[in-house]
Amino acid sequence: MRVSLALKKSWRLFNHGPVALVSASAEGVDNVMAAAWVTPLDFDPPKLTVVLAADTYTRALAERSGELVLQVPTVSMLSVIEGVGACSGRDVDKWSKFSIEREREDGVAAPLVKGCVGWLAAKIIAEPRLASEYDLFICQGFAAWADDRVFSDGRLRDDVPPELRAVHHVAGGTYVVDGAIVHASRG
Ligand SMILES: Cc1cc2nc3c(=O)[nH]c(=O)nc-3n(C[C@H](O)[C@H](O)[C@H](O)COP(=O)(O)O)c2cc1C
Repeated sequence: MRVSLALKKSWRLFNHGPVALVSASAEGVDNVMAAAWVTPLDFDPPKLTVVLAADTYTRALAERSGELVLQVPTVSMLSVIEGVGACSGRDVDKWSKFSIEREREDGVAAPLVKGCVGWLAAKIIAEPRLASEYDLFICQGFAAWADDRVFSDGRLRDDVPPELRAVHHVAGGTYVVDGAIVHASRG
């Protein structure tokens, strides 16, 4: 049966892209937050959009450095996702509070969150009106990594271990976990 859905809840229908962790660094300070509103925009060079609310510390650091890292956490990291998404790096050191390990890559300002299964280092393409009116940032990727237990040859594997699956935030702390991989036949 098709039932009416409150228009203001309709975004939840499309909200199942994997939750990302967004890390940024400026003047020696690293921070990380959760972001569900991350959307691919272009193939080559890869571009994505991410919504970073005006009051987030991560946004302040990313705007200062012009860079961020978007990364894909796993279902095993649910408490980290919820933790970094519920407090601000302005008030707490999230790295120690949530025991998050980070790694550095040459030429990348922001740290990479260990335990994630995909990472995209990206530069912000300045679009001041999009940022000020919509909190929307267009990012162009310049380096990417993936855990080979999850991606190989740039494809999602059929045999991703259950604990390494990505999660999709619906709302209010409810998530959908990636399930079976299916392949459509294309003639
Ligand atoms: C599952 C989840 C998804 C979130 N998605 C977004 C998002 O897409 N954009 C955003 O600005 N904040 C989002 N948040 C909220 C931020 O992560 C939160 O405001 C965080 O405390 C900001 O931290 P910061 O001030 O240290 O940068 C999300 C939080 C959670 C738990």
